[in-house]
Amino acid sequence: MTIIVTGGAGFIGSNFIFHMMEAHPDYRIICIDKLTYAGNLSTLAPLMNSSRFRFVKEDICNREAVYDLFQQEHPDIVVNFAAESHVDRSIENPEIFLQTNIIGTSVLMDACRKYGITRYHQVSTDEVYGDLPLDRPDLFFTEETPIHTSSPYSSSKAAADLLAMAYRRTYELPVTISRCSNNYGPYHFPEKLIPLMIINALNGKPLPVYGEGLNVRDWLYVEDHCKAIDLVIHNGRVGEVYNIGGHNEMKNIDIVRLICQELDRLGKTDNAERLITHVTDRKGHDMRYAIDPTKIHSELGWLPETKFADGIKKTIRWYLENEEWWDNIIRGEYQTYYERMYGNR
Ligand code: NAD
Ligand code: TYD
Repeated sequence: MTIIVTGGAGFIGSNFIFHMMEAHPDYRIICIDKLTYAGNLSTLAPLMNSSRFRFVKEDICNREAVYDLFQQEHPDIVVNFAAESHVDRSIENPEIFLQTNIIGTSVLMDACRKYGITRYHQVSTDEVYGDLPLDRPDLFFTEETPIHTSSPYSSSKAAADLLAMAYRRTYELPVTISRCSNNYGPYHFPEKLIPLMIINALNGKPLPVYGEGLNVRDWLYVEDHCKAIDLVIHNGRVGEVYNIGGHNEMKNIDIVRLICQELDRLGKTDNAERLITHVTDRKGHDMRYAIDPTKIHSELGWLPETKFADGIKKTIRWYLENEEWWDNIIRGEYQTYYERMYGNR
């Protein structure tokens, strides 16, 4: 079995590759990643010498290069993680989001049509459903919830989902889609809420909470997401959407306080909460995301294994033990890693 994983030098893609290499010792994994600011090849360094792994630095929008790769490797399955993923950046500059998230998806699916695959899996997000009101805790996103996006990011992801469904209907491409809630865990790029707060607190820098910090996100430990995708690509029904989430709703301000308290408890900070700074709210800021995961549970038997209370401690410990990984990012060093590794090859 050969699987192409796009965006594998990013947060979830790298965790997925580690999971698949271990869970399926007979699979070969090809990672395509453009190594944008969010891609960090040093994350995948432990796999570079494996005969079951190949890394290709490439843009999924480059049709010729993608077709060449499919011709060489004849993948059975394609899992598309590659995306511009940060809402705040999409508000600053939407264009690259449309390019990678929509055009890139169409190029990959065209390659799948041309060379034939058994499954194309689109990694999507709960953000395509828009948001839920804070005063209706009884409401959740199901797979039938209409798409109703708020940001250029979520709109580009929704467009890709619609395109995937159109390729299914028009060309009978064997497509599945998963829509997951917010992930956290190792290798999370430090522009996102949880790693940003951990690192800023350690560095004694302000902890910028948007608005009142009352927005709610439904957090899932990244490994649980990876296991869910593994199940969907093997046992999920073609043409179906699967929501992934673990009923772990938290207000942003509570997450930030929890991180501060844990760092204080570990003796890494002293009253980190004093660093909390309320800043101007994000434009169009979604209030609440909450997934109903009944379908993936009842059809595929998936349940999250890591409780938030344990996952957040594990994550904080990972950032404490892997300072070099994030320090290289903050200093920009990671972007020269590819040149150092491959410049002379
Ligand atoms: P990330 O930003 O950490 O990683 C994205 C990766 O894609 C990077 O390695 C980057 O170099 C690569 N990439 C970007 N543009 C590319 C291109 N044109 N060609 C090839 N590679 C390119 O993102 P993430 O948080 O790991 O998210 C992965 C996927 O999961 C995304 O599709 C995202 O929409 C989805 N998702 C993320 C979350 C979350 O909480 N992070 C939740 C639900 C769904
Ligand atoms: P983020 O990690 O960017 O994920 P998403 O926007 O995809 O949910 O943000 C999570 C929440 O945290 C979101 O409500 C915005 C908020 N936030 C802050 O309050 N401060 C920050 O510095 C960041 C990056 C996010």
